[in-house]
Amino acid sequence: MKAVIVFCVISLSMVAGSDQGNRDWWRTMSLYQIYPRSFKDSDGDGVGDLAGITSKLDHLSESNVDAFWLSPIYPSPMVDFGYDISDFESIDPVFGTMEDFEKLVAVAHAKSLKVIVDFVPNHSSDKHEWFQKSLQNIEPYNDFYVWQNGTMTENGYFAPPNNWVSVFGGPAWTWRDERQAYYLHQFAPEQPDLNYNNEGVVQEMQNVLRFWLNKGVDGFRIDAVPFISEDVRYLDEPLTGRTSDPKNYTYTQKIYTTDQPRTYEIVQGWRGVLDEYTNSSKIMMVEAYANTSMTMKYYVSGAHFPFNFGMITDVNQDSTASDFNNLISKWMSNMPHGNAANWVAGNHDKSRLVTRFGAERARAVTLMTLLLPGISVTYNGEEIGMKDTWISWEDTKDPQGCNAGKERYETNSRDPARTPFQWDNTVSAGFSTSSKTWLPVNGNYKTVNLATEKGDPNSYYSFYEAVSKLKKSPIVQNGNLTTKLLNENVLSFARETLNDGSVYAIMNLGKEEETVDLSVFDNLSRQWNLYYATPVTDSIPKTLAMYKKIKLPSSGIAIYLSNKGSSCDGRKDETIVSESHSVISYTFGKVNIVRDEWTKKLANV
Ligand code: GLC
Ligand code: MG
Repeated sequence: MKAVIVFCVISLSMVAGSDQGNRDWWRTMSLYQIYPRSFKDSDGDGVGDLAGITSKLDHLSESNVDAFWLSPIYPSPMVDFGYDISDFESIDPVFGTMEDFEKLVAVAHAKSLKVIVDFVPNHSSDKHEWFQKSLQNIEPYNDFYVWQNGTMTENGYFAPPNNWVSVFGGPAWTWRDERQAYYLHQFAPEQPDLNYNNEGVVQEMQNVLRFWLNKGVDGFRIDAVPFISEDVRYLDEPLTGRTSDPKNYTYTQKIYTTDQPRTYEIVQGWRGVLDEYTNSSKIMMVEAYANTSMTMKYYVSGAHFPFNFGMITDVNQDSTASDFNNLISKWMSNMPHGNAANWVAGNHDKSRLVTRFGAERARAVTLMTLLLPGISVTYNGEEIGMKDTWISWEDTKDPQGCNAGKERYETNSRDPARTPFQWDNTVSAGFSTSSKTWLPVNGNYKTVNLATEKGDPNSYYSFYEAVSKLKKSPIVQNGNLTTKLLNENVLSFARETLNDGSVYAIMNLGKEEETVDLSVFDNLSRQWNLYYATPVTDSIPKTLAMYKKIKLPSSGIAIYLSNKGSSCDGRKDETIVSESHSVISYTFGKVNIVRDEWTKKLANV
């Protein structure tokens, strides 16, 4: 059975220097997430820092990244590794100084890299001055957090206001003698929720955005947005029946603690702040694990985009080609018209891409995130195929792991995906001069590291580098999307433009070799040239003309380019120069571009 779905992608004019070009810089960007503790340590204390990041920005440029997002760098007791912020407008000394940050922004901008910072609006640290003053009932901070009286249970015990559960486990309420009341924390007790029904909170947090915009940042990744606002009746949430443990987050249905209407108003207010800056678009992207309609609602509530976590939440090692196809069409067909799609392969909260899918299938996922329309999101280390690192109970740092206890920490801890970036095969994988790092380095760093992989055309990084470069081509920037299930195991899609040629991606997501006919895509019999294929095998031809049948091994992928219209307008097809399994030169619309020249070429368009 063949299914064909065609999506029209809004074609953007990419006129460099024009205001329009400027404003749309983010719509097809390649975004890279840096987890600062684990990216690069410049001072040998075993924890990554801002100067370390600045020293490694060339890696981002070489990896065809347009913008990077920094997980939190603000002063923090580090209960939740920076997501518990004690001062929203400063830098934690472990990461450096405000001067280091300003330097990072300047160096990044000089390299044409946009800088996005993490904005964590749902909660502060309990060490934040606002919470300390709220504890003492000092105006106007008394009402900055969500304080409620307890209840008396039927058998005479004093208890929290209701049955709400924290994401990290245990009640979402903690008692404070100082206030003789409970405060709400949807995450750790050290992360009290801010009260967005208080206009002072709304204003203060908008000023936090202005503070960083005035430092020159290009936008925000906004943390834990569905949790911003709660139903003020403070009623019990209905039980799911999935567990009898009232401390388990899955105990209740989140009808009063997530996705509340007020949350979307708050988001709209932030957009107003971003739009005060008129020189270039300042963007906001929203972290929301929510159902489709609640997710899409962010597009119409001021967000530039809500993250598309489908590759994390909807598919796994065993998913079929049609599962992947469904996930693509789910986003493309539910996204409100005229918006930019995005594809997230992994992040600091989830098991690593290669661990979730296996090394071969992970490449298909990377291919999809990079070549589907819109924005690609790469978590640091996934471009070199880093795997989860096993961490002992003694070394476990993540509160979500620690709270689960010694027996269950392994399934809850997020530490395995947060270990140091593997730069090379020296001490601590080149991450730090210290052999003791905040989380241990993965034992596979001698082979899985950037330096080694750069020298191997078959490595994950070489693959990533080639495909991310293709993302910069006008075809992938502007082309329409057509997806086709060639059979029950083989998914393919085309990105086609009128004048710049087309890209065809074919992925065998099954366990057996498959032979597929690709001529369904192309009724003008143009020649296709192989751009990339893996694994290396002769069954994948370097060029395809009239007859477009290929054999693809299990987990095999192939990317072909066609020079659209070459047979019609008299231009000759390119002579293919082949290097290992990949083609390094091809005809690109009206110009011949060798891969390494693309970046230059695009900069001059
Ligand atoms: C987000 C972050 C996660 C953090 C949580 C609370 O989900 O990605 O790391 O623990 O919010 O701030
Ligand atoms: Mg909240």
